[in-house]
Amino acid sequence: MKAIIVANWKMNPATMREAKKLFDATREASESARNVGLIVAPPAIFLRELRARYKGKRIAFAAQSTNAEAGGAFTGGISLLQAKDAGAQYVIVGHSERRAKGETSEEAGKIVVAALASGVTPILCVGELSRTHSGEHFSFVREQLQAGFAGVEPGKIVKVLIAYEPVWAIGGEKTMSPHDMHEMTIFIKKTIVGAKGEAGMNVKILYGGSTTESNAAPMLQESGVVGLLVGHVSIDAYRFSTLINSLG
Ligand code: PGA
Repeated sequence: MKAIIVANWKMNPATMREAKKLFDATREASESARNVGLIVAPPAIFLRELRARYKGKRIAFAAQSTNAEAGGAFTGGISLLQAKDAGAQYVIVGHSERRAKGETSEEAGKIVVAALASGVTPILCVGELSRTHSGEHFSFVREQLQAGFAGVEPGKIVKVLIAYEPVWAIGGEKTMSPHDMHEMTIFIKKTIVGAKGEAGMNVKILYGGSTTESNAAPMLQESGVVGLLVGHVSIDAYRFSTLINSLG
């Protein structure tokens, strides 16, 4: 199975011109990375144009955030249908940087349901802010998962991607160990099985948080995840192409 690699550009780059340049470099790198299914999540304002000029099949596009509502008085908001119309097949839901701005787990759960209804695949982000030895991070993640999956019918569980992103590991160079991620993979599966039944065993889990060209391959090989959500390294064309080509 191909590894799912999500390139989350966040609020970068500054201009359409630079976005095209970065996309072209990403596209070129994707052509030799045969074991990778790439999903690019550019800022929404660049999405339609990047989608329109891409003629290949290897790269899919994601919106970084949307509202759950279909339309209405939500200044600055983007609906799922608008994102889909611009070319998004995926949407990142509940990223920690959105949660820090006030997006709740309940809202994330509504967006997940709305995304499934619109035919857009949700990538639900969960992850604790910090870790102590008492293991509280497990209950934190459990609550985010339960709220995120609250409205998902058991038959649709496999249509939701989960990105586990411990907030303390985001934005640096040092990732969580594959061993610790393996423990979390099992915990996430158990939680979804507990909430939704056996279908939860098949849930697809990605890891995100300081994924680099040196730690991506071991994380994929040793932790039980099927993909990676990459932030700052995805906007450095050279590092990102090294990363995806390290996956064979
Ligand atoms: P990072 O970001 O790779 O820069 O840590 C990951 C993310 O926040 O999605």
